[in-house]
Amino acid sequence: MVEKNWLEKGFVDEPIDKSIDLKSEIDRLRKEKNAVILAHYYQSGELQDIADFVGDSLALAQWAARTDADIIVMCGVHFMGETAKVLCPDKKVLVPDLNAGCSLADSCNAEEFAKFVGEHPDHTVISYVNTTAAVKAVTDVVVTSTNARQIVESFPADEKIIFGPDRNLGSYINAVTGRQMLLWNGACHVHEQFSVQKIVELKQQYPDALVLAHPECKGAVVKLADVVGSTAALLKHAVKSDRKNFIVATESGILHEMQKQCPEKNFIPAPPEDSTCACNECNFMRLNTMEKLYNTLKHEWPAVEVDADVAEKAVRPIHRMLEISAKLGL
Ligand code: 13P
Ligand code: SF4
Repeated sequence: MVEKNWLEKGFVDEPIDKSIDLKSEIDRLRKEKNAVILAHYYQSGELQDIADFVGDSLALAQWAARTDADIIVMCGVHFMGETAKVLCPDKKVLVPDLNAGCSLADSCNAEEFAKFVGEHPDHTVISYVNTTAAVKAVTDVVVTSTNARQIVESFPADEKIIFGPDRNLGSYINAVTGRQMLLWNGACHVHEQFSVQKIVELKQQYPDALVLAHPECKGAVVKLADVVGSTAALLKHAVKSDRKNFIVATESGILHEMQKQCPEKNFIPAPPEDSTCACNECNFMRLNTMEKLYNTLKHEWPAVEVDADVAEKAVRPIHRMLEISAKLGL
């Protein structure tokens, strides 16, 4: 039974017996319930380490689409859980803390976006995966930072396109493809705050360092980056590079896997403007903890639910993305 204070809080706050070994209990529950634990690279190191699969947004959606588990536990944010639920309506999709939202998804209100789309009936609508299911429902094709460029380029050069909600990713795609997509004016609060000045100073300190940046960063950061890509692309580049030092301009959770795969290399998190905060950590992503994961598996709550009408419309542009990505070998 779901208790009233859990509903109010958005997660199970049942106290956990201190004597239990959380890792082995999580392991026992996932086997017993045929559950799969998926984690994004922005989760804490211990959540990444216990997950069955760790990946970027595209890989998490691809994994959710093909799993035969009965329960998917999405250690990520709400839109990632929604995407999994839309793809697998018959499965239970759990997110350890329902408050794990996304400032970028929040910057695109579904009604306002639908109005904007309605004002441009001759435009194809391309939406970043960091959106609610209701925004996806008025979208023609969903993209992630791994496939956005190729999917935009799969349309004729003169195709009229609306791209939302991230203005930084949209501007970057416009610059590299020469398109003039109409952009929604949204952004991520984590990626907007990296300091250009401090990255330049770090470059002086480590002249051989490669700057790796996520395309959600401001244009000025993207401009001085040596590599621009999704979390998975930045990780791949760090692994194959023969450089020793890397300045990483994305949420600092990715450093865990980078350091794990390349123990001999030095990964420096790009500093935020405000050096007194840990604002290169996504406060939403970090709401998930080992304790909440354990309680989620134990009580099979909180589950992500998507309105059936919305889900029916939202699944089409997600499938379209997965089909194009499969053709492109992504
Ligand atoms: P990736 O798809 O690159 O992992 O990005 C997800 C995200 O939320 C970036 O802020
Ligand atoms: Fe959303 Fe930004 Fe957090 Fe990614 S890092 S989940 S875009 S708020």
